[in-house]
Amino acid sequence: MKNILVIHGPNLNLLGTREIDVYGNVTIADINILMEKKAKAMNVSLNIVQSNHEGEIVEAIGNARGKFDAILINPAAYTHTSIAIRDAISAVNIPTVEVHLSNIYKREEFRHISLVAPVAVGQISGFGEQSYVLGLEAIMELLDK
Ligand code: DQA
Repeated sequence: MKNILVIHGPNLNLLGTREIDVYGNVTIADINILMEKKAKAMNVSLNIVQSNHEGEIVEAIGNARGKFDAILINPAAYTHTSIAIRDAISAVNIPTVEVHLSNIYKREEFRHISLVAPVAVGQISGFGEQSYVLGLEAIMELLDK
């Protein structure tokens, strides 16, 4: 069975009450239930973590080698700032898919740049909680190849 590491970045623990006009009512628990359902249907195992700390995310990625077949990450605000997370993804060389609830290219200019995108296989942005489900599908396509 394939193992996928799912990382939720900073402030995503606040979903459900945070900027509802942008992110909707969905909570991180709802997203995790949705992903677990999809994972069950695809017969893959998920290890889901959330952190508000850049170093913890860097460590989770760094420790993933040999344990996980792929990474699904919503780096949240660190998308636009973290060379450390980008370098960690590049270092472990595990296929990584970047996801965002909102369409980052429709929003403020500072969100138009993703430091993670160049080291990810691809990015899914703008489909709300479905971005995560689409991300899992993309990972399975990749791993099946
Ligand atoms: C986000 C988009 C980021 O710009 C923002 O900082 C987030 C969430 C998204 O899922 O749409 O925290 O990654």
